[in-house]
Parts: sequence; structure tokens; C-alpha cells
Amino acid sequence: MTSASLREEIKNKVRETADIIQVISDVVELKKAGTRFTGLCPFHAEKTPSFSVNPQGQFFHCFGCGESGDVFSFVMKYNRLSFPEALKELARRYQIDLPEPRLSDADRKRIEERELLYKVNKEAAAIYQQYLAESPDAANARQYLEKRGVSGEAVKAFRIGYAPDTSSAGWNFVTSRLQVMKLPVAAIEKAGLAVQKDRGGYYDRFRDRIQFPIMNVSGQVVAFGGRILGEGQPKYMNSPESAVFDKSRQLFGLYQHREAIRQRRQALIVEGNFDLVLLAVHGIEYVVAPLGTALTKQHIRTLRGYCDEVVLLFDGDSAGLKAAMRSVPYFLAEQVDARVAVLPEGHDPDSYVREKGPGGIEDLVNQASPLAEFVFDQLARQYGMTLDGKNRIVKELQQIISAGDDTVQRSLMVSHFSGMLGITPAQFEAGMTKGSAAKQQKVNPPGENLKKFPRKQRQLIDFLILYPEYFPLLLEAGVEKIVPGQGVKNLFSCLNVLAQEGNLTPEGLLVALPEESAERKYVAELLILGDQGSMGNDEQQVQNMCDEMLHWLHTETRQQDGAALQKQINEAQQSGDADLLMKLLARKQEIGENN
Ligand code: CTP
Ligand code: MN
Repeated sequence: MTSASLREEIKNKVRETADIIQVISDVVELKKAGTRFTGLCPFHAEKTPSFSVNPQGQFFHCFGCGESGDVFSFVMKYNRLSFPEALKELARRYQIDLPEPRLSDADRKRIEERELLYKVNKEAAAIYQQYLAESPDAANARQYLEKRGVSGEAVKAFRIGYAPDTSSAGWNFVTSRLQVMKLPVAAIEKAGLAVQKDRGGYYDRFRDRIQFPIMNVSGQVVAFGGRILGEGQPKYMNSPESAVFDKSRQLFGLYQHREAIRQRRQALIVEGNFDLVLLAVHGIEYVVAPLGTALTKQHIRTLRGYCDEVVLLFDGDSAGLKAAMRSVPYFLAEQVDARVAVLPEGHDPDSYVREKGPGGIEDLVNQASPLAEFVFDQLARQYGMTLDGKNRIVKELQQIISAGDDTVQRSLMVSHFSGMLGITPAQFEAGMTKGSAAKQQKVNPPGENLKKFPRKQRQLIDFLILYPEYFPLLLEAGVEKIVPGQGVKNLFSCLNVLAQEGNLTPEGLLVALPEESAERKYVAELLILGDQGSMGNDEQQVQNMCDEMLHWLHTETRQQDGAALQKQINEAQQSGDADLLMKLLARKQEIGENN
């Protein structure tokens, strides 16, 4: 048999064995409707099911977005896998032996790299777990967990471990153990467990920390969140992103709690790993926690496969409230209902459940207010409903709303909020149209706008302030076009001067900015407050972040160019300029081919 027909045969075998209903049901709640099954499409945002799966034909089709395909295309698209990877995944699930697949070298390399990272993380988790369970030097860690009420059962369920202190186990406890297992140090470093020293050699990233393995939904360990024992900074240290770990997608606890969430059709979001574990100890299992970031669109998209409603449970402090504000547009865009429950002053979910029991949490969840209302109430409380207050509220809401990318939702929000403010939608929108940047400048002092950029732009600005040595590179990639505004211009012109002087440092930037300017204030605040863990602190991490920014810039630029071109095409169509139209269409074709 030729290898091609062998591959065909295996593919067919997997296709015959795999049940598309079963595979899709893992991530989409399907209901039987006649001979078909329907559910909410996982590939676009919707509230009424237009996603349909045909068990006879073993294919799916979405009447909403037009996605369709067989079980392979579903697995590929949903999990972002190549065909060979999807085949492998399905074969594994249905226990079909695969002969060594013929992969392209690039595919093979990618798969091998990922598998190595899974292996490294898995072994590390076992090492930390065993150390916690058995080592005399882990007595304080065991005591700590016990004192906080983490049961032995929970330690097991979450595979909690302990990364020892350097005084008992040295600086390369886990790194050396993994190396003894013949795992390459490059992979250990990529997994984020080992950090390279300036003068060669490696040391452990995690030391003297309670280790929470982060599992993906297949149960593979992709990262760790390490909490310091007792007081100290930073409280949490997380693995850096890697080929298997995308922080903005992964949720702590989803693997353990996915069934509970599916059954309740509801997910509770808390901020801390301990909060989650302690809630679980008290029988509240429909909980997940993001890993030190605000909820992202991808988080919400992931949750949508398991539930219809998300409840955010926050401490009464402002960090949680701000996080809630930022997530509004994502919930809107993904059409997932969200409510917010706030804990009384001085409580976190952990202390609250210990004091009031699971019933107390249930009460809070039941009383939670819808996200939009919650946000509005917060703003009303903060600014008051005077004319001036209303103006400020409108401004804040505009920021929130304009961060979303669904126009229909946006206008719904506008009419909703303008109603609550007693103004017309037009009044609400006045001043928020794109052309009014100059008008906004007058309202806010120039640099204030630095704070108001959407997350990604802001990240880029912060990155440039903290790591100005990357400015020339990002400038070349077109950062000026993507992050507009006077505040940014001021910042960039300073960076330009510093670049010429060969003095691209954060401190150099600070003193180069005009005194009393809003930009200077912004830079000073950032340098003093640090960036709360969102920015990297070792070289590799910084390099990775830079790559990420470059990638994003590239995509944004492409989108902007594409949109501009499309606009020209529409205009040419309307004016009937056939020559121009042909030229523009050719241009579009060309761009499409190059991407
Ligand atoms: N956090 C983080 N990385 C994680 C988990 C949480 O950076 N893997 C951050 C969150 O963004 C939040 C804070 O840590 O800012 C959560 O703190 P807290 O709720 O106090 O976490 P707990 O685990 O409950 O901590 P504690 O032991 O103090 O109860
Ligand atoms: Mn806590």
C-alpha cells in the first residue's frame, strides 16, 4: 500500500469512528431538533442557535456565519490545529492507532515542540506535588495550606504542589530534576520553568511558592501560577506565554469545573486561585479564574461553549470594578449575559464562603446585577446625576462602548444608556464620532488620552515607555499610524530625540518630557507603579512581548490598509469609475495574495 492510500485509509477510519455529535457536544450545548442537532455557533457571536449538526451526514453548518465542514474541520477550526494535529487528536480520542504520520517538517517540529512542553510541565507538576506531599522542607507549605482550609482532596484535585525555597533546595531544584529526566534545558526554559542567567547556566523561575498547575481543557498542564507563601511581592507569578500557553485564553479551574459549569449553564469568575480553590472546598464548583489579567474576549468565547451566563464576583476594591468595566464590550460582542456580584468591604470570596458558607455565595450570585446596569450605577455614584456628572458619565460610557467591535450591540448600548441618562442617542453620541478627536483634545488635557486607549494600544505605549530601546523597531513597523493622538505624538517626538542621542531609557524619557505635562505624569506613574505584572521582566519575555506587539502592528496595519482600500472601491463603484475600480480591485487581489 502506498503511503498516500494508507493515510486515506486511516483518515476514513477516524471519520467512521468519530461521532461529530459527541465531538461538538464537548464544546457546544446541542439540542435535538428533528433529525438534526442545533446550538449556539462557536464561530460567531449569537444568541439564537443557527448552528446545526447533521448526524447522518456527519457535518455541521452554521446558517449565521456560513461555517461548515466535517468532524476534522470542526476540530481544526475550533482548536486551531493543522489537519495532521486534528487527525491525531481524534485518533487519540477514539483509540485508533496512527502509524507515524507523514508531516511536513514544520508541522512535525511544531507538534514535537508542543509535546515537549506538555511533558516538561507535566513532570514539573509531579515534582512540585511530590515535594509538597513528602518533603520535610515543605512542612511550612503544608501548614500554610492547612491553615487556609485547603483540604487534602482539593490539593489532589487541583494537583497543587510546592516549589521549594532556595535555602532548602538550591536555585535549580526543578530544572536539574527535569534535566536528569533527559528533558532538554531549552524546553524547560521555553516552558518558563528555568530562567537563563546572564553568565550562562539556569535557575528556577518558581521558588518558595505554592504551585497551581494550569490545565487546558484536555487536562494537559500548560503553565503554573505560583503564589508566594504568606506575604510578599509579587503575590502571583505565572509562567510566561509559550507555544502551549496563551494567557488570554486559559482559565484556571476550567478543566476541573467544566462539567459543573455545563450543568449549571453558569460560570462564576473570581480573581484569585485561592478563592477558587476555597469555593470548591465548600462545594461551589462552577468557578474559574483568569490568570492575573482582566477577562478577555477569548475567555468569554471559551466560556460560551459551556454556559449562558457569567457572574463576576469581585471584592469591593476598585481593581475588580475596573476589570468589570473593561469586560463589558466583550460580553456584548460575544452576546453572553453577565452579572456582577460585589462582596462586602473587607471580604474576598475565600473569607466570605468560610464565614457564610456556600449559601452566602449563592445569595450574592442570585442578587447580582446585570453588568450594564452595574457599570452605570457605579458611574452614577461616582459622578452624580447633575449635568456635569452626566457629561462625565457619557464620556466614560463612550470609552467602554467604543472598545467593543459590534456595531449593532454598540447602538443598542447607546440607546440603553441614553435612556437611563434622559438624553437622546444623538446627544449621547455627539462628540464620540471619529472625526471629533480634536474636540476631545480640548476636553481632556492632551496626555490624559494615553490612559484612554484601548488595551492593546495602551499595552504598546506602556511597553515603549518601559522598554524604549525597542522604539526604533516599532517605529519602523508603523506604530505612529496605529496609535494616533497628540499625547502619543509628544511621547514619540521625545523618543525620537533620545534615539538620536543614544539615550533610550525610561528615565531619560521621563526627564525629557516637559514638566507638568500629562505625558510626563503618565510616564512617572507607570515607572513608579510598575505595570502590575503584565509586562515581562526577563529578556526573553520582553523579546516575546516585542514580537507580539510587532505581530499585532502588522495585522492592524494590514486591516487599516484593507479598510481604506475597500472604502475607495466602494466610492469608485458608486461614482461608476470603471478604470479606477479595476485598478483598485487588482490591488485588493494583490494584497490578498500576499497575506
Ligand atoms: N493573579 C495573578 N495570577 C494568577 C492569579 C491571580 O496575577 N494566577 C492576580 C489577580 O489578577 C489579582 C490577584 O492576583 O490581582 C488576586 O489576588 P487574590 O484575589 O488576593 O488571590 P488569592 O489567591 O485569593 O490570594 P489570597 O491568598 O491573598 O487569598
Ligand atoms: Mn483570596
